[in-house]
Amino acid sequence: MGTPQLTTARLLMRGWLPADREPFARMNADPEVMEHFPSTMTRAESDAFVDRIGRGFDTYGFGLWALELRATGEFLGFTGLSVPRFHAPWMDVREQPVVEVGWRLVRRAWGQGLATEAAREACRFGFEDVGRAEIVSFTVTGNLRSQAVMRRLGMTRIAEYDHPVVGHPALPSVAFLLTRERSG
Ligand SMILES: CC(C)(COP(=O)(O)OP(=O)(O)OC[C@H]1O[C@@H](n2cnc3c(N)ncnc32)[C@H](O)[C@@H]1OP(=O)(O)O)[C@@H](O)C(=O)NCCC(=O)NCCS
Repeated sequence: MGTPQLTTARLLMRGWLPADREPFARMNADPEVMEHFPSTMTRAESDAFVDRIGRGFDTYGFGLWALELRATGEFLGFTGLSVPRFHAPWMDVREQPVVEVGWRLVRRAWGQGLATEAAREACRFGFEDVGRAEIVSFTVTGNLRSQAVMRRLGMTRIAEYDHPVVGHPALPSVAFLLTRERSG
């Protein structure tokens, strides 16, 4: 199916290029970026993630877009839609399959509204082009920056739950919801 390309005022949201792998791995190895995850990623884990993202676009027609700053062509990370690989009870009463909006940006790109700008466009795509009625997001309770993005998008908090992580204790987390009616 390939990757639909989206644009916002400042960003190109595009498919992944071979040249993205190196800066993506550097971002995934940055302890500050990965503060709220169980661990940073190795180059091999980061590359496997890119491969998985590509397969996701082929399966669903949406996914985690690579973000490029239009002014410079710089790779900034990802924002997009994905189908979670775990199950939590709050998901049972949501539109199936559950679709999540998520983001991870290089540290120097924080504090400029870029994650919110990309996420708004990803949600618009989800509602208008994919035909979703609901999009969720979730993060660990301590990730306040991520929750601030969710609130800026107009999402409302719907659940607190323990997020399962293979090989680690479950992480206390919160889930947020955006409906088509509330978006835009
Ligand atoms: C989560 C993450 C994407 C949030 O990034 P962010 O830059 O804080 O989020 P936004 O793009 O919405 O930017 C908002 C900030 O930009 C500021 N800003 C500046 N110009 C702006 C503009 N034109 N529009 C909106 N906000 C603007 C806002 O005031 C806000 O600043 P503040 O943090 O001082 O309150 C980022 O911290 C990150 O990548 N973290 C690591 C990965 C991660 O945890 N991902 C989520 C896992 S669930």
